[in-house]
Parts: sequence; C-alpha cells; structure tokens
Amino acid sequence: MPDQSSAHSTPTKANRRNFLMLSGAAAVASVVGGAVPAAAATETIGRFSSYPFALGVASGDPLADSVILWTRLAPEPLAIGSGMPQKKFPVHWQVADDEKFSRIVREGQTFALPEHNHSVHVDVQGLAPDRWYYYRFRCGSELSPVGRTRTLPAPGAHVEKFTISHASCQNWATGYFTPLEYMAEDDLDLAFHLGDYIYEGAITAAAPRNGAPITDEIRAQCKTLDQYRLRYSLYKTDKGLQAAHAAYPWAIVCDDHEVSNDYAGGANQWPSQLERRAAGYKAWWENIPTRLPAPVGPEMRIYRRFAVGDLVQFDMLDSRQYRIADNDPVVSRIGDVQEKWLLDGIKAYDTTWNFLAQGQQLGGVTTNSPTRNRIYKAYYDQNVSPIILSGDMHWTIAQDSLLEIPRADSPIVGSEFIVTSITSTGDGPGSQSTKDGWLKNPWVKYVDGYRGYIRSVITPQGVSSTQRDVQYITRPNAPIWDAQHFHIEAGKPGIQLA
Ligand SMILES: [Fe+2]
Repeated sequence: MPDQSSAHSTPTKANRRNFLMLSGAAAVASVVGGAVPAAAATETIGRFSSYPFALGVASGDPLADSVILWTRLAPEPLAIGSGMPQKKFPVHWQVADDEKFSRIVREGQTFALPEHNHSVHVDVQGLAPDRWYYYRFRCGSELSPVGRTRTLPAPGAHVEKFTISHASCQNWATGYFTPLEYMAEDDLDLAFHLGDYIYEGAITAAAPRNGAPITDEIRAQCKTLDQYRLRYSLYKTDKGLQAAHAAYPWAIVCDDHEVSNDYAGGANQWPSQLERRAAGYKAWWENIPTRLPAPVGPEMRIYRRFAVGDLVQFDMLDSRQYRIADNDPVVSRIGDVQEKWLLDGIKAYDTTWNFLAQGQQLGGVTTNSPTRNRIYKAYYDQNVSPIILSGDMHWTIAQDSLLEIPRADSPIVGSEFIVTSITSTGDGPGSQSTKDGWLKNPWVKYVDGYRGYIRSVITPQGVSSTQRDVQYITRPNAPIWDAQHFHIEAGKPGIQLA
C-alpha cells in the first residue's frame, strides 16, 4: 500500500510543511544522465524500510549561475540495491537563500532511476553568482538533510579572495575520516578531492574499523558494479565525509583506486580490465556530485576546467585513464588529446593564477617524464607560474616545480603541493628517513607524513596555504593543528615557508 507516512526521523516539521506548501514555484533545472518525465507528480511512493537519505547530500562543479546537487536514495545502504525497489522514484529538490528555507529561489522535481542506483544529479540553473545557497531533497514524506553550496563569481569579475582545500586518498578500512570533519568546519569556497575516493581492495579483518558490522559481500575486492556500489555506500556512511560534502561544493577527479591499484598501461586494454573500469566509473559517477555526464562503458571524460572570476583558472586532469607508457618520448602519459587540451588552456587563460589539480603528479619528486617536461616547458615559455595540486603519495610534499629535475639550478616554473592522505597508510608521522631523503633535494621545501589536508587562500597578491594535520585516524576524535604555513607571491614562482 502506498503510504506517505514514515516512522523514521527527518528534519523538522516546520521545514517539511514549508517544503510541501511551496510546490508549484518556478523550477529551472536539467538532469544529468536522465530525462524528467512529465508525469512525475502523480507517482506514488511506498514506505521506505529506513531513512532513504542515509548517505547525505552533496553539491559540486559549481559555475557562476549553476551547481550540481546530489543525493542517492539508500534506505539500506549496505545491501545490494540499497533497499530500493527496481523502479523510479520522484525526488523534489529546493534551493533557498537561507537555512530555514523561508526564501526559496529554485525548486523542481527529478527522478531517482534504478539504472543509476537511485542517485540524483540536479543541475540547478539561474542562480546568482558568488553566493551561498542551501538545498535539500524530498521523496514522499522523507526530507533529506540540508546542504550548503556556493556559486562561483561571474566570469571576469574581480575577485579579492577565494579559499579552497585539497585532499586525497580516503581509505575507509585504514581509519576514520577525521580530517574531513575538521574540513567541514573550515572556511572554504570550494573543496577539491584529487582521487582515491574509495579503495577497491578487499577489507581485511585487521583493519581499524574491524568492529563495523559489515558483511563478507562488502569486504570482497571490488570487480563488479554491485561491489563498487556497495563500497561507495560504505564510505558514504562516514559522518565526516557527509559533513564535508554538506558544507561546500566539491570538485573531484579520480586516481587509480576508483578502479584498481595503479591501473594504467597495457592492462587498460584487457577486456576484463575495461569491464572493471566501466563498473568503477559507473559507481563513481553515481556517487559523485559532478557535472560530467554518466559514463558510457569504460569511457568517462574526467578532465575539465573552470575559472573563478579574474583570479584563478583551475585545470583538472585525469592522470590515469589515457596512460599507455610512462616514459615514452612520444606517447603522452595523459593522452595526446588531453595534453593538447591542457597546453591550449595554458596559452589561453586570462586570470591571475593558473592551478593544475590532478591525482598523480606528472613526473616524480626526483624523476622526469617526457610529458612532464613538455608541459612544464609550455608553462615556462608562456610565462605562466602554475600552482600544482596533487594527491596519490600519502605524504605532503611542498616543492618548487623545476623546469628540469634533478638539476637543482634549473629555473623554477611553479609551485607544487602534493597533499597527504585523509587516512591511507595510517597514523603519522611516517618514516623519518623517507622524509630526510626527500628533503635532501633542494627544491623540496617541506615534507609531512601525518594525515590531513591543505587549505589555500588565493588572492591577487599571493597564495597562502596551510598544512593541517590530525594526530591519528585509527581512532575517532583526533585533535588537529596547523603544521605549516606556506606563501607564494604572485609573479614569483616558488614556495616560501611562512
Ligand atoms: Fe591513495
């Protein structure tokens, strides 16, 4: 029997009443990955077995006038199918100026489709630039938590300050996402996640979260779509991850573990690996608040760029999908098409700053690659001093980007912040001898093996970054501290310790 009531906790009654009274207001939206049938309002919704918004809400890939809103209906997140019947469900969404939703600016309806694991990606359009908004969803009588998001400044508008974070590598089995709990309370305009949003490997009995009641089905190494979907569900039950998503829009790229460890090279071409990649990409897309269209098979264009007024252009790279040969002098490590796209962007940008955000760095801390050399030379020739944000290494390494390494007297092209992991490899501070080894290279300014994230305040005059460390992640509630401040002056490439 259809039943609009529910025994499960939802946001306040006042909020719900407000939501229901506002049906019929103007809605401007398109849906990524699925059409919106006109008969949506007549759909009936049965009782959910549990709260369907258990995985929270998220937003991402903002522009000056739009942002992607995300949720996924999952009353039983840790079961295959997430406790949802194989049918579509209408989902209402609202965007408001205020947290109490007294001033609704946009609302509408879309469908959570079974073929997308009942995920919802709403492209809300017609928003004002450079503003905070609040959003929520409703399915039947169930209301989602409230999320907060922010549009970018208008194209070309003068921007005095824009604050970002970057983070990577959150292995649920290794520990608690405590750095994200602190990030949620930080003061950011946009959060970057540079990959390893999940780890696909088997979850062993020795993991710190071993007390969690998860089945063998969830612990198994991910190879099929159902297995990847379960893994995202597991990760998204983490309160820190939910809080950080609800606090800011995110911009996210993949690294390797969204598919398999170090996937790339010849293995990319094996049919079984391509099938696995298709499953990994599909589950990633279903769970990420991204503007990208749903992937078709093993193909998903992840690289993209956007600008923040006149202040900064962000070029977001895909450092895995197109890799054929690591050190081939001719074949691009990032694929010829993507490399051309990046080089064209380096030539064309007209903002004060140019940031490159990627999973794995183009070379190594002490090693070249022909692709890295071509790209760094293009930056140098164009007189562009990029700030390069990378993940992957589970260490924070702040270094000057030299035109040629390991030639210490080579010109400094830009500045790079490889960010440590959120949990991967476990509690800091890491091996002192490893740290010392990197610090022997004069272009390496700082190394840190704690878990955490980096916040960067970008202004026309400079970029001020802070490494934030948590004491441990193998237990909850670790303290955090600002481990190191960095500064980069506009027009003067290279990192200064502050
Ligand atoms: Fe990682």
